[in-house]
Amino acid sequence: MSEMQTIQWFPGHMTKTKRQIQSSLKLVDAVAEIIDARIPVSSRNPDLAKLVQNKPRVILLNKCDMANQTATKLWIDYFKKQNLVAIPVDCKSGRGLDKFAPAVNTVMSKRIAKLKEKGMVNPTIRIMIVGIPNVGKSSFINKMVKKNRARVEDRPGVTRGNQWYTIAKNLEMLDTPGVLWPKFDDKVVGEHLAFTGAVKDQILDIELLAVRLLDFLKELKPADFLARFKLENEDIDNIESYELLKMIGKKRGMLVSGGEIDTERAAIMLLDEFRSAKLGRITVEMPQGR
Ligand code: G4P
Repeated sequence: MSEMQTIQWFPGHMTKTKRQIQSSLKLVDAVAEIIDARIPVSSRNPDLAKLVQNKPRVILLNKCDMANQTATKLWIDYFKKQNLVAIPVDCKSGRGLDKFAPAVNTVMSKRIAKLKEKGMVNPTIRIMIVGIPNVGKSSFINKMVKKNRARVEDRPGVTRGNQWYTIAKNLEMLDTPGVLWPKFDDKVVGEHLAFTGAVKDQILDIELLAVRLLDFLKELKPADFLARFKLENEDIDNIESYELLKMIGKKRGMLVSGGEIDTERAAIMLLDEFRSAKLGRITVEMPQGR
């Protein structure tokens, strides 16, 4: 899976992105970091804390419709222990987005109080969205803008090209998200991003990826996965993952001429079903031990 590491981001690209984000950060009071609730570690940018520095931050555990609910709760507690406010959201349906403005108010409460002390009545808070590719930034922005279709016009002193949207009372959002890179030099991170489809399949060995996913599913044994491929009565602990991929392909009648099992098709199907949560709401990374 090493090829994956070189594609989307290269040093020049990273420097340019970093600079863009740093200049946007100057315009905002707080940051909303969108991560994938199924892989809260791998979908984070390793340099974000440094980039954001002392700006208050809200974490959005997105795609929570596809993550395990108990795991999401554990992640929220985990972040709480680190003094970070995290909320579960589903930017496809919009579920949880009503909690966003209150969460921003929570992380901004001290600063808002200070501004009020200085005599500002109802200060406006500006926020920007950041996250790695495919994590749901556009979905979030679209949903928030659709809900509150109010564009902020002609703000003096704001660089042309920056568009702001009022998304709640006294809360404005920058329309362009900051796109950040994942920790792509870590093999496990790469795999987990690939499981969820955050990385393009063309650059991956799809069968190898499916085998790695099966290694994980064999350990976890999600009920929907077992039921979907009729594996309840199979001794999957003692079946090698590539053999299991073949078994799944066979059960689905994926054969090529000569009666061989089409393992590539089986791999694509397995990943597809995992990514669309047909194998259950599965969280790949848990907070324990972190
Ligand atoms: P980005 O701007 O961060 O790159 O991500 P984007 O919003 O484009 O979302 C990437 C994919 O993830 C999209 O699917 C989007 O619909 C999906 N998505 C975003 N948020 C959620 C969520 O909370 N739950 C679920 N289930 N999916 C989510 P796509 O396949 O690229 O497009 P489409 O299926 O919307 O056509």
